[in-house]
Amino acid sequence: MSALIPGHLGPGRLRLGVNIDHVATIRNARGGAHPDPVRAAEIVAAVGGDGITAHLREDRRHIRDEDLARIQAATDLPLNLEMAATEEMLAIALRHKPHAACIVPERREERTTEGGLDAAGQHNRLAPIVARLSDAGIRVSLFIAPEPRQIEAAMKLGAPVVELHTGEYAHATGEARAAELRRIADMAALAARNGIEPHAGHGLTYDNVQPVAAIPQLAELNIGHYLIGEAIFTGLEASVRRMRELMDEAR
Ligand code: PXP
Repeated sequence: MSALIPGHLGPGRLRLGVNIDHVATIRNARGGAHPDPVRAAEIVAAVGGDGITAHLREDRRHIRDEDLARIQAATDLPLNLEMAATEEMLAIALRHKPHAACIVPERREERTTEGGLDAAGQHNRLAPIVARLSDAGIRVSLFIAPEPRQIEAAMKLGAPVVELHTGEYAHATGEARAAELRRIADMAALAARNGIEPHAGHGLTYDNVQPVAAIPQLAELNIGHYLIGEAIFTGLEASVRRMRELMDEAR
């Protein structure tokens, strides 16, 4: 019998964080209470999702302040709060103490988070926010483009996690997509070599998730819009399960 522990030498299990913002987008379209993102969080927990991700935006276009405590109370899953690096969001994070806080760039007029955080250019603004979140026991993640200077900046800031922006990869085709995938793989490896846990997310779908999921250093993917969109046709349970299967197949 082999002395090897099965899977021990391969990549670890890739966690799936489900971003439930767009359940709240649909709710807010009518101003009532339905559909409730809390119910989505409960379904994600029931089907083996590994975490709930929610972005509290300055304009509260989807998730709202009161949703955070309700989501935290509804499941034991870790909450990953996506937040802009502002005093307002810092105070909210310190009040709710999510498991993780992913610092994202935010522009009021954008439809979704458009690019990575310029961690390299904004060291002095980010440093106190990263420090205060970390001091409160919140695991800080920086949502960055897959670029060496951003990984270096994350190291200088002492962030334990980076989330690599997969939006460019998701939108590109052909050789440009292959090049972007190589950049993500190289930066996942660089982060891991330097003691930073790499995550990835944005724009991932059933069709494009597998090459990303196959990157061995990645520990977590955060996926939202596509899963909630598919849930309209197949239910959230089925869409989360299908994504999980595709991720497992890729490893
Ligand atoms: N990760 C981060 C940091 C994000 O800002 C978002 C979008 O809010 C996602 C992941 C999920 O992206 P998508 O909704 O395109 O799957």
